[in-house]
Amino acid sequence: MTSADTGTTDGQLESPSLIGQELPLDIGAVAHGGHCVARHEGRVIFVRHAIPGERVLARITEGEADSRFLRADAVEVLSRSPDRVQRPCPYAGPELCGGCDFQHVSLPRQRSLLADVVREQLERLAGIDWPVRVEPVPGDVDGLRWRTRVGFVAAANGKPGLRRHRSHDVIPVADCLIGHTELPDVTSALDAGAASAQAVVSGTGERVVVTDPKAAPVVTEQAAGRTWQLHASDFWQVHPGAADALVAAVIDGLQPAAGERCWDLYAGVGLFAGALAERIGLGGAVVAVESHRRAAESARRNLADLSQVRVVTERVDRFARSRIAQGRLDLVVLDPPRAGAGAAAIRGITKRRPRAIAYVACDPAALARDLATLSEGGYELVSLRAFDIFPMTAHVECVAICERRPSASERNT
Ligand SMILES: C[S@@+](CC[C@H](N)C(=O)[O-])C[C@H]1O[C@@H](n2cnc3c(N)ncnc32)[C@H](O)[C@@H]1O
Repeated sequence: MTSADTGTTDGQLESPSLIGQELPLDIGAVAHGGHCVARHEGRVIFVRHAIPGERVLARITEGEADSRFLRADAVEVLSRSPDRVQRPCPYAGPELCGGCDFQHVSLPRQRSLLADVVREQLERLAGIDWPVRVEPVPGDVDGLRWRTRVGFVAAANGKPGLRRHRSHDVIPVADCLIGHTELPDVTSALDAGAASAQAVVSGTGERVVVTDPKAAPVVTEQAAGRTWQLHASDFWQVHPGAADALVAAVIDGLQPAAGERCWDLYAGVGLFAGALAERIGLGGAVVAVESHRRAAESARRNLADLSQVRVVTERVDRFARSRIAQGRLDLVVLDPPRAGAGAAAIRGITKRRPRAIAYVACDPAALARDLATLSEGGYELVSLRAFDIFPMTAHVECVAICERRPSASERNT
């Protein structure tokens, strides 16, 4: 008899799927990833579309009888939080579009949930007990119509769609309510055969549909008192209020002084390097490090008028070991992708002993892990601001400022 005859794949009995089963659950704290934690018969269940304190009927969406944890959607609210609101978007909810996590939560409570997540990640992964408040960014009124970049995929009917949560299924979406009102329509690009298309509207009003990121046209953005040119599919903050808010938080936290020497790591098209350069003046120096060749070339062009800036096309961990990285260093800004900088890059920074470091983070878990490495290297958190630059979603952006702890000998002098 083969394992197929036994209904197993490897001769072991398969654990029965629990998908579709419904349970009443008391909803506990929010967790990283857009869900809340509930418990049933000693097992953790991550429940989406619920709010802490509610009692809901939850339908299991992932998990088997012997799984360590399960995932579920709240499909009926049995006892309702005062912070529950009617979802503005008809595509948000159980089994629907996975783009938003918190459309059912009032905006102030969304921000307090995000603050809870940041606080919990810092405490659990870095041992840091820190009060967190999540601030709205200027221009945000109702958390809608902010996304200046949205990637659509072709649904089965050929129309633009977005993916279901944790699925390759595509939900046709006629209008994404967090998408900017001026986003271009991608329908004709999908009709022409593209499997996906990114709709982009720049801060200066250019409307672009990108089907091949390699051939993306150049768009113009404005932030930090400067003009920036970049290819439409290269990194730029998607909320119109984000770039200015983050630059202000970094500059305020670091207080760059004339003549200081700085690194802008994961520099993109040069946003923070430009802001630092203007503060440190011609007597200082900024090295901007970016691994994506095309973005680094844009940074070079964007910052060509600032002779104190040098753009290096390199990976940060390699740069930190290189000869160019030698010499005095006062300030570092790092703005890594979601995975964080990692221990090698962080150690490369701390051994150069800058006076202060600004860490711009789109994932609080990665931030917390890297803060733990910074602490091992002698740097402690001195301030933290968190910004709601992705309203309706479980994403949050933090700016953490760290300073070097004085060594024992420095303390005694
Ligand atoms: C979150 S974006 C930040 C960009 C820029 N600081 C801004 O605010 O516009 C991260 C950038 O890091 C770059 N990047 C990713 N991994 C890298 C690495 N190992 N070394 C250098 N740059 C990297 C990406 O290409 C991207 O431009």
